[in-house]
Amino acid sequence: MLGRLNHVALAVPDLAAAVAAYRNTLGAEVTEPQALPEHGVTVVFVNVGNTKIELLEPLGESSPIAAFLAKNPSGGMHHLCYEVDDILAARDQLKAAGARVLGDGNPRTGAHGKPVLFLHPKDFFGTLIELEQS
Ligand code: CO
Repeated sequence: MLGRLNHVALAVPDLAAAVAAYRNTLGAEVTEPQALPEHGVTVVFVNVGNTKIELLEPLGESSPIAAFLAKNPSGGMHHLCYEVDDILAARDQLKAAGARVLGDGNPRTGAHGKPVLFLHPKDFFGTLIELEQS
């Protein structure tokens, strides 16, 4: 079921500062900020060749990363995103195995315009997992 690591996501309190650090200090290629109001975040992607780093800043009043940043004020690793060939088949297989799918269980459109789902971190050793249709 599990395919490539699509990205590692870091929640950051100040996206402009994080972009400057990755672009200027680390010398990385960083995309332009993309607002995703339906996910409550603004994102950029850092291209590191074999995968990407997603930098997430809260957007709006009820951002799903606000509580994470309240606990981790300087930012931190928020989730891992793995690719799957068939997101609905993956979801059904995971649910049958007892894993909890967040939200209403239906895929939503993610930052790459592809369907994504999130799995409960308590079912995967404290790590929030995003699945993206490849
Ligand atoms: Co992500």
